[in-house]
Amino acid sequence: MLRFDATYAERFIPADELEAYLDERAEVLMRCQAGEERYADSLGWLSVDAWAGEETVERTCALAERIRAQADTFVLIGVGGSNNTTRATVAALAPEGGARIVYAGNTLSAWELRRMLEDLDGHDVVIDCVAKNFETLEPGSSFRLLRQYLVERYGREEAARRIVCTGTIGSPLEDLCRAEGYTFVPFATDVGGRFTALTEVHLLPLAVAGVDIRALVAGARETEHSCRTAGPTQNDAFRYAAVRKLLWDRGYQVELLGFFEPRFRWFSKWFEQLFAESEGKDGRGIFPVAAEYCEELHSLGQYVQDGTRQLFETFLDVREPGPGDSLVLGGTDVEDGFGYLDGKDFWDINKASFEATRAAHAEVLPCLTVEIDQLDDHHLGTLLYWFAFACMASGELLGVNPFDQPGVEAYKMLMFRALGKGVG
Ligand code: PA5
Repeated sequence: MLRFDATYAERFIPADELEAYLDERAEVLMRCQAGEERYADSLGWLSVDAWAGEETVERTCALAERIRAQADTFVLIGVGGSNNTTRATVAALAPEGGARIVYAGNTLSAWELRRMLEDLDGHDVVIDCVAKNFETLEPGSSFRLLRQYLVERYGREEAARRIVCTGTIGSPLEDLCRAEGYTFVPFATDVGGRFTALTEVHLLPLAVAGVDIRALVAGARETEHSCRTAGPTQNDAFRYAAVRKLLWDRGYQVELLGFFEPRFRWFSKWFEQLFAESEGKDGRGIFPVAAEYCEELHSLGQYVQDGTRQLFETFLDVREPGPGDSLVLGGTDVEDGFGYLDGKDFWDINKASFEATRAAHAEVLPCLTVEIDQLDDHHLGTLLYWFAFACMASGELLGVNPFDQPGVEAYKMLMFRALGKGVG
């Protein structure tokens, strides 16, 4: 279960104002729930069963099992939406028993790429090139590098058995797969990169890593039901979107995702990409950033409490401890000044730090909380769907198309010109 709490923002957005706004914009929620015709080619993710139904999950688990029998290391080549969900989920859940996931296709740094290749030595490797368009420079160049690595190491025939590509049907990537005998997985046709969390794009690497994708999908499916059926005042995802819009109207242009569980580090990157690429357009949009506490209480914390009043904060929290979430600090006969911690569990110490931080920050800036019961596969599915739905609603309230990303084309044109693309 997921709970959204805006009470720590009520000094800034009074509850009655929020309720009135939710009623006033109810038609936006209805459009989101039904799926708007004008975005039909981007809304495949709205129905979890469309791209993560039982048959797909079954097929994905079977392919993942084959890969795990071949390899202890799986290289995911992809950038942005073709990478973030897997990295976020694997880092959050730290699954056991699956293959190690190595990331490529998200950098052009020679040092990083060299280090990544060195990291493969001594391991059995399978690679997956995930590319919706197969024009993006980072994954395209890494894919070639890794193909050459595999061919050199295993020979062409065996290398082909170790290459999976997830791409658009009819794309040059599919042609390459057919010509070379690589395994081809179709990229969901009506889903854009950052909304592909619950499709084979990520279900495959997640299953290879040992994530329970059935539980993940079940969590998302349950959340789909609540997001798509609850009315405006009961709908937490829509409430969150509405609060964001009211805050933006008041000049709060930066949202800080704060969390006290470092396992959310890469989830926060997923969050940043989802909202930045979906909302930051037409001179509008909230700038999403993240703070990993406690570490950043000792850096960003100063600014948050005392700096320019442009921030609001969304805390991401986990209610119940899971396996491994308990560590009791024993007493000591050495006088170290920390006797007040004797016998306390770090889980509770961390919670006290979170609650104190939220109370202090809420004195000066609007604070929101998104809380899940447990940090497990089911709740990760919940988070992935909930934020995607909220992001769509938020874009709609803001008046931008949440599904395109025209702003990333400008640098690409200059970069391709500098690299001589299309010249030879
Ligand atoms: O969300 C998006 O659409 C983007 O972030 C893409 O996922 C990213 O640009 C990678 O695109 P592609 O898979 O076509 O290489």
